[in-house]
Amino acid sequence: MSEKPVKILTLVSGNGSNLQALIDAEKKGGLEGGTIAGVVSDSPGIYALERARFAGIPAYTELPVLSEGKFQRNLSDRILGIARRENAGLIILAGFLSILAGELLEVYEGKIINLHPSLLPKFAGEGMKGEAVHRAVLAAGETESGCTVHLVDKGIDTGAILLRRAVPVLPGDTPHSLADRIHQEEHIALVEAASMMIYRLRRT
Ligand code: GRF
Repeated sequence: MSEKPVKILTLVSGNGSNLQALIDAEKKGGLEGGTIAGVVSDSPGIYALERARFAGIPAYTELPVLSEGKFQRNLSDRILGIARRENAGLIILAGFLSILAGELLEVYEGKIINLHPSLLPKFAGEGMKGEAVHRAVLAAGETESGCTVHLVDKGIDTGAILLRRAVPVLPGDTPHSLADRIHQEEHIALVEAASMMIYRLRRT
C-alpha cells in the first residue's frame, strides 16, 4: 500500500455543506488517508469558498465560458491544470453544476466522482439538478428518493454507480423538505464513497 496520502481536489458551486462533510471527516481521520488539497468553484462569492478559507485549503474560482454551452471544455482544461499542479489523485464534485469535458475526463478516468440528488438512473441528465430534481420526483409521485455517488464519464449522470442512499418521500413534502432530508444522506454518502475510492487508490 502507498504511504502517500491521496490528494483530493473538490469542485463546488454553492453552499458547500458536502465539502464541509469531507473537511470534517478528514479532520477526524475518516477519509482513509485522503487529504483535501484544493477547492475549485465555478461561481464567485459562494459560501463553499468561505468554508475552504476557514479550513485553510487553497481555493480557486474558475468561471465557465458561457458561449461553450453544456460541455465546459475550457473550464475543464483549467481544472486539469490545477489538478496537475496540486498533484491530485481524486477529484470530487460536491455540488458542482458545470459539466466537465475533454482531456480532464481521460487523464482522470475512474478518479472523478459526482454526487447527484436522486436515486440514479432515475431523474438524471441535462437540467436535472438541484430543485428541478426534487420537483420532478414529487410530480412523478415517487415514494422514495435519495442520492447517488457515481463515477464521472463523458455523459451526464451516466457513470458507474458507487453507492446510493434512499429516503422516503413523505405526504406533504415540498421540494425544499425533500431536499433537506436528502442532504443529510448526501453528507454520509459522499464521505463513504470518497473513503472507498481513496482506499482503492492507495492500493493500486
Ligand atoms: C446537493 O444537493 C447536491 O446533490 C447537488 O447540489 C447540492 C449541493 O449542496 N448536486 P452543498 O453545496 O454541498 O450544500
